[in-house]
Amino acid sequence: YLPDVLTIFVVGASGDLAKKKTYPSLFDLHRHGFLISDKTIICGYARSPKSDEDFRDQLMPYLKDGTEEEKKEFLDLCIYRKGAYDSTDDVASVFEELKEKEAELGEGGKVNRLFYFAIPPTVFVPIGKSIKEAVIDRAGESVGWSRLIVEKPFGKDSESFQELSSDMKALYSEDYIYRIDHYLGKEMVQNLLILRFSNAIFEPLWNRNHVKSVTITFKENFGTKGRGGYFDSYGIIRDVIQNHLLQVMSLVAMEPPVKVTGEGSANYIRDEKVKVLNCIDPVKLEDCVLGQYLAAPDGSEVAYTEDDTVPDDSVTPTFATIVLWIKNPRWDGVPFIIKAGKALNERKADIRVQFKNAPGSGNLFDGQTITENELVMRLQPDEAVYIKTNVKKPGLATKPIMSELDLSYKERYDVELFDAYTRLILEVIRGRQATFVRDDELKASWDIFTPLLHQIDDGKVNPILYEYGSRGPPESDQLTERVGYHYHGGN
Ligand code: BG6
Repeated sequence: YLPDVLTIFVVGASGDLAKKKTYPSLFDLHRHGFLISDKTIICGYARSPKSDEDFRDQLMPYLKDGTEEEKKEFLDLCIYRKGAYDSTDDVASVFEELKEKEAELGEGGKVNRLFYFAIPPTVFVPIGKSIKEAVIDRAGESVGWSRLIVEKPFGKDSESFQELSSDMKALYSEDYIYRIDHYLGKEMVQNLLILRFSNAIFEPLWNRNHVKSVTITFKENFGTKGRGGYFDSYGIIRDVIQNHLLQVMSLVAMEPPVKVTGEGSANYIRDEKVKVLNCIDPVKLEDCVLGQYLAAPDGSEVAYTEDDTVPDDSVTPTFATIVLWIKNPRWDGVPFIIKAGKALNERKADIRVQFKNAPGSGNLFDGQTITENELVMRLQPDEAVYIKTNVKKPGLATKPIMSELDLSYKERYDVELFDAYTRLILEVIRGRQATFVRDDELKASWDIFTPLLHQIDDGKVNPILYEYGSRGPPESDQLTERVGYHYHGGN
């Protein structure tokens, strides 16, 4: 058995994303034995000149865990070549060299190629074209598969997405492209379909007859952290809601796919996600509360507009609570609440499915408070699944109290949970597209937010100011209460 050679070509290798996410994940894969030293080539590519040594020195501080020896072995695989993104000749000349290495390592076997685009979308098409002409179109018999990993943002609204998508489609068919949404690589998000579809106790209740509301929350306890320039032209809706949180929501709400795992499952799952996204109405202004953070009351953190890279008069939202309505037989009338914000009181992401009260329970217990059951899946930190349940207060009184059936991963499982990027890159190597976003999913998700985004861009809505470190504007709680979410505290 002759294992295939794998060439990983990281475009934008000297950028932030490559250093913080791509290379550390490749290192993780290498030290866990998924990348074999004498069968792997990792070539970084970007515009600035840099020697291999300088490049390795820059990567080193980002490699966490692992021993010095493991780091050294990995960095020895990493080379760096300079070139323009729009130059077929530059890419071709790098590949002349790489082909020689591939032949050397391949010993006559197959070569697979992974192209990682860690670059802004403005250069997707120029580099996509250069790679196609210089490498894909000239691939010989020895080349097995070629795959492309692409990073968000995939446009800024429906129109810009369509343009980018059709330009990319002219170069590559859908089976080449793996659009990363790293939330799909998180342990608890991957757990969703197993939890939903393999337990007799959830699926029968998973509909408008029993579910009162679904809330997906994303909170960060830090601000834009030097990314203000990027953030200001995107805002919280484009940064995390239209992509990460809507992806999570589509997995919560979709109908059962033909298959969750195995042959064909990638398209079966994505077909169902698109269907549910297509049943969501575009967001209305009255179903949305926007916010922007002020300085911390003790002066320890500056306001969003005091960030040097943000214009002083910026009205870009750093917080949003949005209620989405799915107009299909399963979910008609159930609010899906998405709440996301930076510079809040804690860092947390979770999904809460709040159920209606047990019928007649008010009368049965003589008007004593019965709390709605809630299934909570905590994505981070500390992955957990727990169910808020009513039990008798231990002791002599017959009093219902709310308690939790709790599965905390840290306490239950003694396994290392991989970073989402590590998991997703491995899925690309394995050729599994289920956890990557298909073109039609993106179209549907941009269509939901584009009218609202245009109103915000046109200055028609001003964000409500909230203090750094708070729970966000109180208007957010008023909105969620209005649509029927019963706040149990702690969120
Ligand atoms: C990124 C956003 O996609 O996701 C960031 O651009 C955000 O603004 C990040 O902080 C959150 O990811 P995670 O995995 O830390 O929750």
